[in-house]
Amino acid sequence: MSNGIRFDQQLPNIERSQALLARASGLIPSCTQTLAKGPTQYVRGVAPVYLQRGAGSHVWDVDGNEYIDMTMAVGPLSLGYAYPRVDRAIRAQLEDGITFSLMHPLEVEVAEMIRAAVPGAEMVRYSKTGADVTSAAVRLARAFTKRDRVLCSGYHGWHDWYIGTTSRAGGVPKATRALTATFPHNDPIALLEELDEQVACVILEPVLFETLHRDFLPTLRKACTAAGALLIFDEMWTGFRVALGGAQERYDVTADLACFSKAVANGMPLSVLTGRADVMRGLEDDLFFFTTFGGEALSLAAAKATLSELREQQVPDALRVQGARLQEGYNRLAGEHRLTSTRAVGLESRTLIQFDANAGDPLLQKSLMQQELLRHGVLWSGFHNLSFSHGDAEVNHVLGAYDRALGVLHDAVKHGDLESRILGVPVQPVFRKTV
Ligand SMILES: Cc1ncc(COP(=O)(O)O)c(C=O)c1O
Repeated sequence: MSNGIRFDQQLPNIERSQALLARASGLIPSCTQTLAKGPTQYVRGVAPVYLQRGAGSHVWDVDGNEYIDMTMAVGPLSLGYAYPRVDRAIRAQLEDGITFSLMHPLEVEVAEMIRAAVPGAEMVRYSKTGADVTSAAVRLARAFTKRDRVLCSGYHGWHDWYIGTTSRAGGVPKATRALTATFPHNDPIALLEELDEQVACVILEPVLFETLHRDFLPTLRKACTAAGALLIFDEMWTGFRVALGGAQERYDVTADLACFSKAVANGMPLSVLTGRADVMRGLEDDLFFFTTFGGEALSLAAAKATLSELREQQVPDALRVQGARLQEGYNRLAGEHRLTSTRAVGLESRTLIQFDANAGDPLLQKSLMQQELLRHGVLWSGFHNLSFSHGDAEVNHVLGAYDRALGVLHDAVKHGDLESRILGVPVQPVFRKTV
């Protein structure tokens, strides 16, 4: 792979990106299909807006600039861009067809692989997006328990039952909003107060960025069973990453249903619903969850190759090692620059860079960090979403880039001039929780 990435470059020329963005405004609402990839999440006028190509953990924007990518398509690229084994499987399947008039054998083969890898996956169904399967899980829980209320914690997708709990609840009926409540993650007491006999399910990302309270998941498991509510893990970020069997394996807690997408097919659109057979059999009754592309074969071929590679190469272990080097490296560098206001937190395979408000507006700190990393060829949106293609060379380069960027951040915090150092429009928040 060519490596055109150097330290201390000019900020990239983003002329073509800017021209495309101008064409999209007024044509594509918000200009994007994925908020986290859109123009509000990058310093406008400074950061590239459109990517053309990727290989391993490197990407090239439409102006030809090369970067090490720390976002990795917001999660799906567990192995990396253009990963040969997966791409070979997709090409081979393409020769035979993409989607068919009857079911395809890969539906069975991949389901067997998932059942072997994921604790509690007695039955398996597919769909295309994360929101598809979290919503199917909630509907299944409501049908199974004959209750309506939902408790959730984390992000679960764009559908009414969840997005109605946030500040972006436009178009969601009040009656629907009233049925879902959020609870603070990692706080078993707060959850127990909410969990009554009207609750159909508790759905959550098993782990976010805080160190998991040792009793949190086991308490949740016991409390759901006692209350007759189903426990649903949203494993979009933990699935096939924190262990091959996801958070259920890593924390030894089995949910009633578990939802996966992102890492399972290295970038192809596939999501997976797994769980207890007696609950999953609800999908055979009057509950409807079927969709045209659910068994599309290119994604299933990609999943088969991805799951094989994740297992054979012990990718979750590799992510843990490289992720720890980055996380510990960042925290050591922040200490060397006498910055106590920023830390890398979370699991090794997915780390968040936190900025404290006492050092200035966190979004301005994030914007400055993003801008400065671009000078050193690192495309960054506040996370380390690691892939198997982030090797030692990439980790060392990113740490070198952090060393320089943290120096600039330290100066800006010290002089209180964060805003004037940002050469474009700072990044914006996504949304707030309201319920
Ligand atoms: C934890 C979690 N759940 C659900 C979703 C929704 O997935 P999708 O965007 O594929 O619908 C996401 C998306 O980022 C997610 O991070």
